[in-house]
Parts: sequence; structure tokens; C-alpha cells
Amino acid sequence: MDQTEVVKPATLDELIKILHKIFESDCINVEEVQNIMESYESNPQEWMKYAKSDQYRYTRNLVDEGNGKFNLMILCWGEGHGSSIHDHTNSHCFMKLLQGQLKETLFDWPDGKSQGNMVQKSQRILQENKVAYINDSIGLHRVENGSHTEGAVSLHLYSPPFQTCQTFDQRTGHRNTVKMTFWSKYGERTPFETTASQENN
Ligand SMILES: [Fe+2]
Repeated sequence: MDQTEVVKPATLDELIKILHKIFESDCINVEEVQNIMESYESNPQEWMKYAKSDQYRYTRNLVDEGNGKFNLMILCWGEGHGSSIHDHTNSHCFMKLLQGQLKETLFDWPDGKSQGNMVQKSQRILQENKVAYINDSIGLHRVENGSHTEGAVSLHLYSPPFQTCQTFDQRTGHRNTVKMTFWSKYGERTPFETTASQENN
């Protein structure tokens, strides 16, 4: 069989198995990962146990640690929830819509000289089952659930895994380094931390 041929994962577990196989290699083919994630047809019954949401802000829920090669997680976005503008700490970032829609706005890195408003490059609406890809050379982004009536759920793969990222103030371009935490791991709510999570990706 052609190595680039896409095997369609029938379930989320099967998708995870295929991802483990792909990430055994140190050389990652972005298109291959994007295709395999896209070919998994979202089935809420398979990911419901990870999809723990919060009324006030979106949550990050760890699904799999990818043998140390990647982190796979499910993000739950309530009505109107959104991220700040952030980078991806030199990692690959794949984001698949499992339910609902998300708006992704791309920004250029602030140049450090001109203090002022960060200019948005483009914007798109991600539909169910579609996979978006970003890394630091493409730019920065903000992700939002613009709906005031529907939640959204997305599946994110980050490789290599990272625990901090930078967030940016749109008006000034000023940045902050923030630590990211998980709301749950493997379907179990993570014990409350005194230092609350600042931001995520
Ligand atoms: Fe992101």
C-alpha cells in the first residue's frame, strides 16, 4: 500500500492508534496528519467522556500523551468563549472541529518596533470535521466560538507537547508567557490548582 494513502479511522481510538504510528517518525508530514484527522468522522459517543465544559471559559481536556511525541486534547467552548491571541511555542498545531463551529483569526507577529494595534491577516469559520493547521512561522491566532446559542468542541494535536505559550494584547502587541493547565485528564476532572490556568491555545 502507498505510504501516503489515508486509512480512514472508524473510531477515535483507532485515530489515536494511527497517530501513534505516524508520530513514531521524527519527520512529520503535516498534510498526512491533517488528512487522517479530517477523515475521522466525529462521533460524540466516543469523545463525550472527555468533553467537560465550564460555564465561564473554555476548557482543555487531555485525551492522550502520544508516547511523549504529541498531546491530544479536547477543548470545549461555551457560547461566546474565546482564546486570546497566542503562539504555539515552535510546535505543530492541528485543530479539528468535533461539534459546532469556531472562528479563527490570524495575526502577524508584532514587529516589536511599532507599538499599536495588531493587524488581523485573515479570518475563517471552521466547520464540523474540518482540520486547521498553524505553527509559529504562519503566525498567531485567536479562536472563538461566536455562537450565542451553541457550544463547540474541538480536538487539538500539539507536537512536540508544550506547557507554556505566549499571549498577545491586540491593542499594544505586548506579550505574556502563560502556563497551560488541563481541566481534566483521561476523562477525570483534574484536582483544583491554586494557580489558576491563565490561557490556552
Ligand atoms: Fe492555537
